[in-house]
Amino acid sequence: MDADRPTLVVTRRLPAAVEAALGARYACTFNPSDVPLDGAALATALATADALMPVVGDRLDRAAWHAARDLTGGAPLRCRVVANVGVGVDHIDLDAARVAGVPVTNTPDVLTEDTADLALALLLMAARRLAAGERLVRAGRWAGLAPTGFLGTSAAGKTLGIVGYGRIGRALARKAHHALGMRVRYVSRGPVRDAESWATAAASLDALLAESDVVSLHCPATPETRHLIDAAALARMRPGSVLVNTARGSVVDEAALAAALRDGPLAAAGLDVYEHEPAVHPALLALDNVVLLPHLGSATVETRTAMGMRALANLDAVLAGHAPPDRVT
Ligand code: DGY
Repeated sequence: MDADRPTLVVTRRLPAAVEAALGARYACTFNPSDVPLDGAALATALATADALMPVVGDRLDRAAWHAARDLTGGAPLRCRVVANVGVGVDHIDLDAARVAGVPVTNTPDVLTEDTADLALALLLMAARRLAAGERLVRAGRWAGLAPTGFLGTSAAGKTLGIVGYGRIGRALARKAHHALGMRVRYVSRGPVRDAESWATAAASLDALLAESDVVSLHCPATPETRHLIDAAALARMRPGSVLVNTARGSVVDEAALAAALRDGPLAAAGLDVYEHEPAVHPALLALDNVVLLPHLGSATVETRTAMGMRALANLDAVLAGHAPPDRVT
């Protein structure tokens, strides 16, 4: 029976409902250990399975695509679609996928609200020093309320600068404006349609950095955005300001960020993503004024299930010979 069904390699554990739906349609190789596959295993999947379902962190780089091609002896890869479970596809070499003739799809929209919620949570955690306070209580070192203890920064009436005014950046803007009473400024690569009356485009990234009390990053990881927030950019930020990153670690020069948190001008930062995940820059680990989360942006049962189902819809479409709803390349 399985011999008739297309083969699918799923690189990581997915919510039970997703694994059940995949298993009902495809001859699946799941990853019960949940340990990331290495380059050789990913190349083998590209060369020998009908479809691959990866997640962020699976390095489908040029070397993996070349290794797959070596396995087929130069013949076309068996893989007919890479259905990524996630919106960001910077871990996949899209040019190599194009050359190999393998469409890549992603899962936009379904993770917008939860990721924006996490950015909002990081904003408050960093600005209000919540993680440091929690560490104190857990360590049994809290001696009672001190009027000058753990003083943070108010959000109300402050300016939130959003870098990348796409779906997630815009959702954060709405939440921060309506729930926290923040003013919103933004910079965007493309034109912003139907801009909200309460949000203002900044003249440039430099202007946004200089005018914002909190800067939140929502741009994709591309060669152009690598270290967009470097030492010079950090030096433009306001004294006592806060940086939030739920986009991709490569957008921030982590060594420069650590210096800006230690020596100013930043008061705090909230990070969900890192340049070399799961490694975190040691200089950041040593600081008390940075909140460090383990890439939790879309980590709810609802959203991770919706992401898996959306990836499945893309997979179904390609294998049935139709255009997938979320084709990236
Ligand atoms: C994405 O979708 O790109 C997130 O970073 C992973 O949930």
